[in-house]
Amino acid sequence: MAKTLRSFLFVPGDSEKKLAKAGGLEADALILDLEDAVLPANKAKARKMCAAFLKSTKTHLQTSAQIWVRVNPLDSEYIDADLAVIVPLSPAGIVLPKPDGPVDIETLSRRLDELEAAHGLVAGGIKILPVATETARAVMSLSLYPRTYLPRLLGLSWGAEDLATDIGALTNKGADGNFAFTYQMVRSQTLLAAKAAGVQAVDTLYDDFRDKDGLRARAGAAFSEGFTGMLAIHPTQIPIINKSFTPTPAQIRHAQAVVQAFADNPTAGAVQISGKMLDIPHLKQAQNVLALYEGYGE
Ligand code: COA
Ligand code: MG
Repeated sequence: MAKTLRSFLFVPGDSEKKLAKAGGLEADALILDLEDAVLPANKAKARKMCAAFLKSTKTHLQTSAQIWVRVNPLDSEYIDADLAVIVPLSPAGIVLPKPDGPVDIETLSRRLDELEAAHGLVAGGIKILPVATETARAVMSLSLYPRTYLPRLLGLSWGAEDLATDIGALTNKGADGNFAFTYQMVRSQTLLAAKAAGVQAVDTLYDDFRDKDGLRARAGAAFSEGFTGMLAIHPTQIPIINKSFTPTPAQIRHAQAVVQAFADNPTAGAVQISGKMLDIPHLKQAQNVLALYEGYGE
């Protein structure tokens, strides 16, 4: 099983300062961005800078983060050059913006197949994380992910900004400041599609990056709902996200107690701890928590 990644930090691919800083951060994954954070005039320069960053991780830069690259959309004029420059340096994965559905993941996979073979890389080694909800068509295709064979698919993430633009919305927020219903629905659909496809569910970014309490609340809720990780845009968000998506010591102790209670009663389908009934779904939940914890190697 692929390592569970809790925090994915976007790093603008044309920012010398931020790339330099990124190497020392404790994100589970960095996403070097060639897409929306980079103006058209800077695309070529960003590609070179990201290539240099990837090379440095093979020579001297010590980082525990997986290095991912967000390329430009498949129908953009930049995609050929993005893949030609980035793939030979074997990034951990490619973040694909604005796919219209799993068919675009298949297209990208075939391009990666060819490039991996041409450059002598391990076949299928480079994973894919789509931002799976950036167009209305993409949202209507979410249910196809579990039915499509996509061995490179690491997870599904979602975004609310480009979707709002695509559907002609003036804002993606409701009067209370939270995501409007359409985006909350899309978020839940992404979670369910990821789970049905057996891949990681990655929640969208929290854009008010100075609001640590708000992020903590959002990330904590996402973990409780089944999301396994979250996108980030600022270094201060990383420790909050990593902690929020790691089971707490109390959750671990409880999970161990549940597993133990069933082990102590091998013929029982239901047991109790402190007067609370536990049956098989609780056992599976406890096993999930322990598996997640082991996945982080802590
Ligand atoms: N990656 C790496 N370093 C970052 C960073 C990031 N995403 N965001 C900020 N930093 C660095 C800054 O360079 C600064 O470094 P310093 O201490 O050496 O001066 C430090 O962290 C503090 O940053 P701060 O001054 O608080 O913010 P800023 O004004 O420099 O940047 C943003 C604010 C929003 C522009 C920046 O966080 C950013 O570019 N985020 C990513 C945007 C992006 O990729 N969007 C596309 C995906 S949605
Ligand atoms: Mg975007």
